[in-house]
Amino acid sequence: MFTPLLLLAACGAGTLASPVVAPRVACTRAQLQDATAEYIAALSAGSPKIASLATGTVPYQENDVAMDISKGVLSQGIKIDFNRSIYDTTQCASYTEIVATTKHAYVIGTRLAFNADLKIVKIESVVCDDGDWLFNASGSLTYNKKEVWDVIPESKRNTREVLKAAGDAYIDAWGDKSIKPPFASPCARLEGGSYLSGNCLLNFPPPFNVTNRRYTIDEELGAVDIFHNFPFLDSAIPRDPGTQTNNFMRVEDGKIKYIHENTVCAKKGCKK
Ligand SMILES: *[C@@H]1O[C@H](CO)[C@@H](O)[C@H](O)[C@H]1NC(C)=O
Ligand SMILES: *[C@@H]1O[C@H](CO)[C@@H](O)[C@H](O)[C@H]1NC(C)=O
Ligand SMILES: *[C@@H]1O[C@H](CO)[C@@H](O)[C@H](O)[C@H]1NC(C)=O
Repeated sequence: MFTPLLLLAACGAGTLASPVVAPRVACTRAQLQDATAEYIAALSAGSPKIASLATGTVPYQENDVAMDISKGVLSQGIKIDFNRSIYDTTQCASYTEIVATTKHAYVIGTRLAFNADLKIVKIESVVCDDGDWLFNASGSLTYNKKEVWDVIPESKRNTREVLKAAGDAYIDAWGDKSIKPPFASPCARLEGGSYLSGNCLLNFPPPFNVTNRRYTIDEELGAVDIFHNFPFLDSAIPRDPGTQTNNFMRVEDGKIKYIHENTVCAKKGCKK
């Protein structure tokens, strides 16, 4: 969120790349890539019948509201201009961000959870469109495309613990000025369709308790995604649980380089 309280220069807490400890591999990357590609193809085709869907009723949520998969964005046929995915081989999950600028403009972030048979067992999406926080799909497209989220060489990869800690520190610092998240210099935040490059630090008046965090972590791409709630932005939504939002981060050498925030507003622009 934009705030006048940009108090501290990015200082990077000196977190070095830690040796890579191989996690117990629950799913292979290739399997997750194939199944996630099916989801992206379904979103683009407007066909919710994804081949990898588990049998029975698979929980499907948009903006934290459970709904029928056939009634949501998967049945619309979205012309996707850009997509970026990360793969969590430990949890068997993926996170995908898509940007659509034509027809109905959208920025959609989706977490797919898989079982050991590589079947999708849960789908959660943050669906942003006109009226959501700083929404501007052409801005999202322009800035997102320019960023480099390439494969991190094995010797420089951070552990999932380091990636998770970096993501949590960014969020925890909002309500606790004593926390100094490890930011790269510069750090850039794509917030809705607006781009801020420099210092990514945010502080809000406490108490500021961010709950309901759901993680997707990819060591190879140095990425951590956190679905969570934001306590006060939208007066139409009670402080607890708060507004549905998502922060997607790229971390290099333990430092946060890029942040994508997509936040859903109940009232246009999250106005009071
Ligand atoms: C998703 O992005 C990849 C490149 O990263 C591209 O090859 C693919 O065509 C895209 N899919 C859609 C449906 O746009
Ligand atoms: C949306 O982003 C585009 C590309 O950066 C920019 O040209 C345009 O002015 C932005 N629109 C608004 C309403 O901010
Ligand atoms: C934050 O919320 C969680 C879940 O409601 C609760 O367990 C925790 O005690 C809260 N922490 C603070 C500091 O309020």
